[in-house]
Amino acid sequence: MSPSSSSLPDRAIVWDDHHLQLLDQRRLPGRVDYLTLHDARQVAQAISDMVVRGAPAIGITAAYGVVLAAALRFAANPQSWKSAISEDLNLLAAARPTAVNLQWALERMQTLMQSLPADNNPQASLLQEAQRIHAKDVADNHTMGELGAALFEQKSAVITHCNAGALATGGYGTALGVIRSAFAQDRITQVYADETRPWLQGSRLTAWELLQDDIPVQLLADGAAAARMAAGGIGWVIVGSDRIAANGDVANKIGTYGLALAARYHAVRFMVVAPTSTIDMHLSSGEQIPIEQRDAGELLRCGESTIAAQGAGAWNPVFDVTPAGLVDVLVTEKGIIHAPNSEKMRELMG
Ligand code: MRU
Repeated sequence: MSPSSSSLPDRAIVWDDHHLQLLDQRRLPGRVDYLTLHDARQVAQAISDMVVRGAPAIGITAAYGVVLAAALRFAANPQSWKSAISEDLNLLAAARPTAVNLQWALERMQTLMQSLPADNNPQASLLQEAQRIHAKDVADNHTMGELGAALFEQKSAVITHCNAGALATGGYGTALGVIRSAFAQDRITQVYADETRPWLQGSRLTAWELLQDDIPVQLLADGAAAARMAAGGIGWVIVGSDRIAANGDVANKIGTYGLALAARYHAVRFMVVAPTSTIDMHLSSGEQIPIEQRDAGELLRCGESTIAAQGAGAWNPVFDVTPAGLVDVLVTEKGIIHAPNSEKMRELMG
């Protein structure tokens, strides 16, 4: 992976002729650097290492990873690229376990691959499919932005968690898409962003993104959100998701469940914004969602410095599951569900 500097980006995932460029989100907001990736192994590594993160962005990146893999496999042996590529697909699928958008995108690419003639260079067709997935995600985010903004009955402050913005998607964002649309319509008094330990997606990424769009933001220590709700004026908690089960249970960044509990107690409404590529109808409830556990060192350190007492261990699941009963509204590109449950989810998904 080779780094290069650039001016402020409008996209975190860029295809440049024969390579994939990813904005290195680990370096934001201090540095705006792109990494150039050449093969599926580098793409899988970039996803595991959090160069790119956020469920839809991971799916889109994996789709471009398949394009890179197919080009290399075809060049190495045009007769056997279809069987050889399964190693790359397995590598990509294993990069992160919770965001179902990764599997969803790989399945789309695989379906197309099966229909392609075995001895023709597959790169152009696969690239078109990856770009379709990318463009559709951006369009869906704009649709969800409008649907979510229309739910504001009065102007109010909102709290968001992690980063569910342009950086986490093809562009515009899910939760931040709603916040962008609602802010443009003058329906938001103030955006509060949880800092989101340990990767600080809130203070590094969400704050950076909102400020790029001149949307003022105040940060909250993760533990401060309930007190901020108690102080009044918060109309909505708005979050994204990594996987939604068939009964409407929602996996999202660790801390989301606590926010939902606090929101219910304080009569603050809780909105989940996610494209249907995040819905996993194969899992009947959130208990079945695989929750990624990451290295304890992520909690014991902050950047380069050790911050925990020597000898302390750490439990570091990076997602949690919010029961559907705590979700007031689920916004998807196909429409809105109030108080999601299995029946309404089945109806939405057809
Ligand atoms: O660990 P991350 O940064 O990949 O976690 C991301 C989140 O939890 C987002 O809220 C989720 O993927 C939705 S992004 C539109």
